[in-house]
This record gives sequence, C-alpha cells and structure tokens, in this order.
Amino acid sequence: MRLEGKRAVVTGAGQGIGRSIALKLASLGGHVAVVDVNLEGAETVAGEIAGAGGTAKAYKLDISKADEATEVMKEVVADLGGIDILVNNAGITRDNLIIRMSPDDWDRVIRVNLNGAFNCIRAVARTMMSQRYGRIVNISSIIGQVGNIGQANYAASKAGLIALTKTAARELGPRGITANAVAPGFIETAMTETLSDKVKEDFAAKIMLRRLGSPDDVANVVAFLASDEGSYVTGQTVNVDGGMVW
Ligand SMILES: NC(=O)c1ccc[n+]([C@@H]2O[C@H](COP(=O)([O-])OP(=O)(O)OC[C@H]3O[C@@H](n4cnc5c(N)ncnc54)[C@H](O)[C@@H]3O)[C@@H](O)[C@H]2O)c1
Repeated sequence: MRLEGKRAVVTGAGQGIGRSIALKLASLGGHVAVVDVNLEGAETVAGEIAGAGGTAKAYKLDISKADEATEVMKEVVADLGGIDILVNNAGITRDNLIIRMSPDDWDRVIRVNLNGAFNCIRAVARTMMSQRYGRIVNISSIIGQVGNIGQANYAASKAGLIALTKTAARELGPRGITANAVAPGFIETAMTETLSDKVKEDFAAKIMLRRLGSPDDVANVVAFLASDEGSYVTGQTVNVDGGMVW
C-alpha cells in the first residue's frame, strides 16, 4: 500500500472533505490522527477507519489556537512516534458582502483558515525537519484564485494559503519536505449546502465536466501528493474543479 505505516494528521476530518481524506489515507495504510474541533465527528470517523481495519485516533483541536495546536501535535508525535503527513483541511465560511461584513467575521475566517494552517505547520515542522521527511498539503480553494462575491474573508484566506504553501516549500524543501496546495472547485459537502441556488447554478454552468465534485475527488489528489509518488512535486497548487479555473 502506498502509505504503509506513514503517520498522517488531517485537520477538520470529522466530516466532509477531511473525512474522505482521512479514510483514503488510512485505506492506503496510513496511521491517521483525525483532528477536529468537533470531537464527536472526529471519533465517528476514527471509528469508521478502525471498522474498516485501519489505524486512527481522534483528537480535539481548534486550529486557530496556536498553543493548542502545539500541544495536540506533541500528543500525536508521542502516540505515533512522528508525523510524516500534515493535511491542513479544516476551514469555515462567514459569507457577506464587504459592505456588510463585520470585522469579527473577517477575523474569524482568517484565524481559522489561514492562521490555523500556519499554527499546524509550525507545530509539526521541527519534527518533519528532524525526520528529513514530510508531506504538507493545504486545502485552498479556486475562490482564492478568482475571488467570489460575498466571500472576501474566505477568498483572502485561501489566497494566503497558496502563498504560505509556496513559502513552506522553499523553507522546508532542503530537508526533504514537500508542501503543496489543493484547490477544490465546487464539492458537495455541508459547506456548499448552504449556498444559494443562484450561486450553485452559476458554478455548475462553469464546470467543463458538467458535474459537481465529490469529497473523494479531492482525497485522491491529496493521497497522491502525500505519497512517495508525489515526491518531486512541491510549491504547487493543484486545482480539483472539473475544469472551472485555469
Ligand atoms: N466544499 C467545497 O466545495 C470546497 C471547495 C473548496 C475548498 N473547500 C475547503 O475544503 C475544506 C473542507 O471543506 P468541507 O466542505 O469538507 O467543509 P465542512 O464544513 O463540511 O467541514 C469542515 C470541518 O472542519 C472542522 N473545523 C471547523 N473549524 C475548525 C477549527 N477551528 N479547528 C478544527 N476543525 C475545524 C469542522 O468541525 C468540520 O468537521 C475547507 O478548508 C474548505 O474551505 C471546500
């Protein structure tokens, strides 16, 4: 199996895309730390993995809290003996037009989506550096490339993640660590369920493959970037959007 014995952390893995990524990495032989602010969701997913014969443990973490991220990653290292793969997937939306967006909604989205990924990378970087091995995959979004009406905070956070990815690739590459971003398009999860029919129609009309994406579509690309097969790919953003943005 492509990820036999590899130790992986997936944030926001209690549901949606993160859940699919956790299941996929575990199905390929990875030992998965299922991390989420919602412990119940994380425990359910860890249970699903164990039920399928895989190895997983649930951890509660609000990634926007730097100290908490450091503590939880230490706990994961103590449990698994190291961390080979970090998938920064957890993310939120607080949509509104700029003229109506509260500074709190701006801050919260940046703190979770962007600071959260930084907090987790910072918390695992030394471990990966001493291992001289690591795979970091940040889940960005095509919205970070083209913007979206009502999503100034989200778009800025996802664009920031691409720059964070490129910088991590430069700083950590000499130690055998790759850092890449995956930019999903319109994926059917709880996050997109809340979008208006108008927004969904606008997206659907722009998808060349004429179908919405599934969490598994994203998980397959993450698995490649997290594996040894992706070992010469770093600093890149891979769009998984059915052909919406290029
Ligand atoms: N669904 C899409 O169409 C789409 C498109 C592009 C990018 N993305 C990105 O993919 C990622 C996953 O999206 P999804 O659709 O599965 O969302 P989702 O809302 O279904 O799941 C997000 C998960 O993150 C967790 N989470 C939220 N805040 C957290 C925090 N502070 N700390 C730890 N965990 C936290 C939630 O509890 C939840 O389990 C997000 O980063 C999102 O921006 C999604």
